[in-house]
Amino acid sequence: MVMLENYWYIACSSRKLKNRPLALDIAGKRLVFFRDASGHPAALDDSCPHRNAPLSAGKVSHGKLTCPYHGWRFKGDGVLDEVPYVAGEPPACRTPSYACVEQDGYVWVCPGGQAPEKAPLSFPHLNLPGWTSFGMETLFQGNVEACLENFLDCPHATHVHRYWFRTPTAKPVKAVIRMLDDGAVTEYFEEPREKSLVWSLLSPGRTVSMQHTDRYIVPATSRVDYEFGDGRAYSITSSCTPVDDTHTRVFTVISFRRGWLGPFIRLFFHPLSRLIINQDVRMLAQVQENIRRRGGADFMPLEQDVLFRPIHEWRKALREAGPLPEAGRQWQVELKL
Ligand code: FES
Ligand SMILES: [Fe+2]
Repeated sequence: MVMLENYWYIACSSRKLKNRPLALDIAGKRLVFFRDASGHPAALDDSCPHRNAPLSAGKVSHGKLTCPYHGWRFKGDGVLDEVPYVAGEPPACRTPSYACVEQDGYVWVCPGGQAPEKAPLSFPHLNLPGWTSFGMETLFQGNVEACLENFLDCPHATHVHRYWFRTPTAKPVKAVIRMLDDGAVTEYFEEPREKSLVWSLLSPGRTVSMQHTDRYIVPATSRVDYEFGDGRAYSITSSCTPVDDTHTRVFTVISFRRGWLGPFIRLFFHPLSRLIINQDVRMLAQVQENIRRRGGADFMPLEQDVLFRPIHEWRKALREAGPLPEAGRQWQVELKL
């Protein structure tokens, strides 16, 4: 499958990239990350152009990366800086390098040759007064589409997260789906919110109004927002990094507005979120194993799988550089949750 390479993807948290080289698989490529002389992240192919040694097994000193085999030394832009056993100037050589930026506490990389002009998508609500945030990193078996569909899919929650996040009530729910100029959004109306651990711990009573939107943002981000009439709000943004055709590394930031209670709520919300995400990890691993065994994937999306088609429509258009889906198109679906 063609990966959407010319976009920003999170490589790792900033904390993870210190003074050692770090090998990461992104969009089917093994890259080595390190910090250059000014502390900025740099990414190169993790294969020395001399004789293919993994540069990630080498050392970083003074912002340059030294190959573990014969000591060739590279700068952050991939230019060969020194060959220790050659007197004078090293031969002209530049190993492939990849654009990197650091934002929101993450190192982002563009694994293609054309870095986007726009900065990476910011995580909403980070460091806003009254809001508390925490991040999680999860490796899923499954491609980016499979992850996005899962994160933006309500019906699975009554099965995979039964009693934890959703308990089936068979109540009719209205969903309004709208195509945007950078993805698509669904707004839910009359959504049930009872009889599950998460709802009873985190939401106010049913008398308080609630707005719930699920949003797909191109190319590989999902965002789920719950906003309550009493000022409480929860926002879950998941940024998907393709590892290869069957693995995706997901960086999730959960933010919530609960004022001074936030740090206390985080104490149980964080492990609870990990538990719920792991339920999805297990489900997607089973799906991926079945796709592998059968030698391909079959899909029968219903209109109640509300964002399935928009995700596929958008990503197909981006992959094939075809006409983009038209913003403003809107439709309504009835489902039971
Ligand atoms: S393989 Fe890297 S210096 Fe020889
Ligand atoms: Fe889920």
